[in-house]
Amino acid sequence: NNYLVIMAGGVGTRFWPFSRTTFPKQFHDVLGTGRTLIQQTADRFEGVCPKENIYVVTGGEYKDLTLEQLPFLSESQVLCEPGRRNTAPCIGYASYKIQKKDPHANIIVAPADHIILKEEEFKRRVNVAIDYASKNDALVTLGIEPTHPNTGYGYIQFNDTEDDVKKVKAFTEKPNLEFAKMFLESGDYAWNAGIFVWSAASITLAFAKYLPEMAEAFNAAQKDFYTDNEVTSLDSAYSRCRSISIDNAIMEKADNVFVVKSDIGWSDLGTWRSVYENSELDNESNSIDGNVLIYDSKRCVVKTPKEKLVVVSGLEGYIVSEFGNVLMICKMEDEQRVKQFVADAKKVG
Ligand code: GDD
Ligand code: MG
Repeated sequence: NNYLVIMAGGVGTRFWPFSRTTFPKQFHDVLGTGRTLIQQTADRFEGVCPKENIYVVTGGEYKDLTLEQLPFLSESQVLCEPGRRNTAPCIGYASYKIQKKDPHANIIVAPADHIILKEEEFKRRVNVAIDYASKNDALVTLGIEPTHPNTGYGYIQFNDTEDDVKKVKAFTEKPNLEFAKMFLESGDYAWNAGIFVWSAASITLAFAKYLPEMAEAFNAAQKDFYTDNEVTSLDSAYSRCRSISIDNAIMEKADNVFVVKSDIGWSDLGTWRSVYENSELDNESNSIDGNVLIYDSKRCVVKTPKEKLVVVSGLEGYIVSEFGNVLMICKMEDEQRVKQFVADAKKVG
């Protein structure tokens, strides 16, 4: 039995002001396709996993938005975390919850903010991973051929055999630039797509082994799952969880990690540049989403509300974005400063 866990609790500050705490990017139609990122995520599992087995893990403040955008979900399929603790507790909660209902479950974990262009190939690769994970005590992840030394990803070194499912030798989460370059040049690394496949049994075993305190906390809460005491028990379990990603906590440490190399048109819409690179461009290589008059401008990304007429003239390589009460105009090459803008904006209110 296949279950899908969509992780949708991140706030995506690198993509500010479009992605905000009040309205994070997974709930936006980032590329103007008519479907939001979380809707596209659910859509692409059609035929892989029945709709009643889809769970979304997010913060309580996004519950209504989630139910509105994915109307086929029942309230019980939206798992609300008492606080943001990164992906390990998020996956822990969902895993112990599903395991209680169905100890033989296969679980696919997917981020809510990616795009995948080759949907059929994606389904084939996921099915390969599910098949393996259902028969072995294995933590399987999808691996992407790296193209540049991005330091925002996990890097997977694997045994390059002919098999579809390859044993992972080393998993390095977010290396520094020097290592990222080395990994890229060596040729035997893949990027971690952040899409994981395992059985409920294997992932709870991994929690017990690598995150014993968290496993204990969720084991204690598990007896109250599906009862009126779930919220209270979950609160106390979360108060015992530190904030850590699944990549740092488990994937880097476990010795039963496997990778399925996947050529699926994957990208993580984590930054303005990635949005630019994935959107349709006009004749001057501008990516325009909004009511915009643009003159003598090149390689700009403009993302502004439809109800506001925006005039852009003589800009090259700029990001122009308005959302809510924030307007940002920033050189694309300075986009790593967005984090600083967010911090400073919080101070000025
Ligand atoms: N529910 C919940 N709670 N979801 C969360 C939380 C949380 O506390 N923190 C993050 N998420 C969600 C995000 O919304 C996103 O969909 C997903 O979990 C992954 O978190 P990110 O914060 O985006 O991770 P990352 O991009 O830095 O790194 C991960 O993804 C890369 C590929 O995009 C890692 O798995 C890397 O190894 C990987 O290469
Ligand atoms: Mg991400």
